Amino acid sequence: MNFQFTKEQELVRQMVREFAENEIKPIAAESDQTGEFPMENFKKLGKYGCFGIPFPTEYEGAGGDYLSYILAVEEISKACATTGIALSVQTSLCMGAIWAFSNEEQKKKYMPGLCSGRKLGCFGLTEPNAGTDASGQQTIATKEGDHYVLNGQKCFITNAPIADVFVIFAMTDKSKGVKGISAFIVEKDFPGISIGKVEDKMGLRAAQVGEIILENCIVPAENLLGREGRGFGIAMKTLDGGRIGVAAQGLGIAEGAFNEIKEYMKERKQFGKQLFKFQGLGWMMAEMDLKIEQARYLVYKAAMDKEQGRSYSVSAARAKWAATDCAMYVTTEAVQLMGGYGYIKDYSLERMMRDAKITQIYEGTNQVQRMVISGNIFK
Ligand code: CAA
Repeated sequence: MNFQFTKEQELVRQMVREFAENEIKPIAAESDQTGEFPMENFKKLGKYGCFGIPFPTEYEGAGGDYLSYILAVEEISKACATTGIALSVQTSLCMGAIWAFSNEEQKKKYMPGLCSGRKLGCFGLTEPNAGTDASGQQTIATKEGDHYVLNGQKCFITNAPIADVFVIFAMTDKSKGVKGISAFIVEKDFPGISIGKVEDKMGLRAAQVGEIILENCIVPAENLLGREGRGFGIAMKTLDGGRIGVAAQGLGIAEGAFNEIKEYMKERKQFGKQLFKFQGLGWMMAEMDLKIEQARYLVYKAAMDKEQGRSYSVSAARAKWAATDCAMYVTTEAVQLMGGYGYIKDYSLERMMRDAKITQIYEGTNQVQRMVISGNIFK
């Protein structure tokens, strides 16, 4: 596996790293404290072409590759995991589903707005009774003439409160079970769609996560995404891509925390010497370094599998599991190394530790990733 970045990939990484350092990082703590989504910065990312990195220029994408996009999520998440997940949901989930499963008319209608950031998007799969068991969809879509009528409720949907475009999953034929689920592109101005409760969370406090309420929501028939009954496959395939984004987010959080604690270990002295000169503490750093490097390889490998047309469900599951466990491990250890200072809000490590937790949960818990991997071993 060749991990030599191309010139384009290096350029994207450098550009996003500078933007994250100069504009995103300085307000990350404030967004966490106020819970206010950093919309101005997020929109700027769209303007700079970061939402559409892996999509063709004719749809206002940047014409780059999936690894470049993954490097962007990683760099942003080092500075602010809230902005990292908003980017990942916009690109991997909303646009990922539309790009891979839409017809040409739908692509022309939705991709340019989403690529450029004029429109924001989300992915409405989870329901109160359909979390890990995503096939248990209770939202119903009934065909009536030239439109569908959607009724139901989605929950824990990242970006829902700020979204213009929603990819929504619903049952068009309950009798067919998993083969009765369909996917729709729904606009925020369609009649009958509204946002319910916006969640108050442990971490990613500025990420906008909420309920979607569908009450006799009218969706034109031409907004069916793919064919009727193909929705579950669309959701699963899209999530395979999304999991690489979350993996990159986990990797970025781990790297961000590592950088912070590395500086602290050099500055802080106890018993007359710098902390890193204590062998036990240095070994804690070595263990973090190993886990980060392992995660990095799995994340880039999954991105390259997707880019190069190989099967990537399993590599995405491995990357997501490894990188997000790594984020939790590294942030927890870094807080420990900082002692009392790690636990207070004057430093960013306590935020990073809270942010890391959800990465082990969303877009398929890390137990789901084990199901995907073990299912593949024995198929
Ligand atoms: N790609 C394409 N098709 C797939 C697939 C994939 N990766 N995985 C499964 N399928 C297809 C199967 O081939 C099968 O079709 P056939 O019957 O034609 O063969 C069908 O889907 C059903 O497959 P399974 O029987 O394996 O499905 P299951 O019901 O047992 O579920 C699961 C398996 C892995 C647990 C799955 O339900 C799952 O991934 N659950 C987690 C859901 C999830 O990730 N939710 C996240 C919500 S989004 C979110 O968090 C975003 C956010 O806001 C940040």
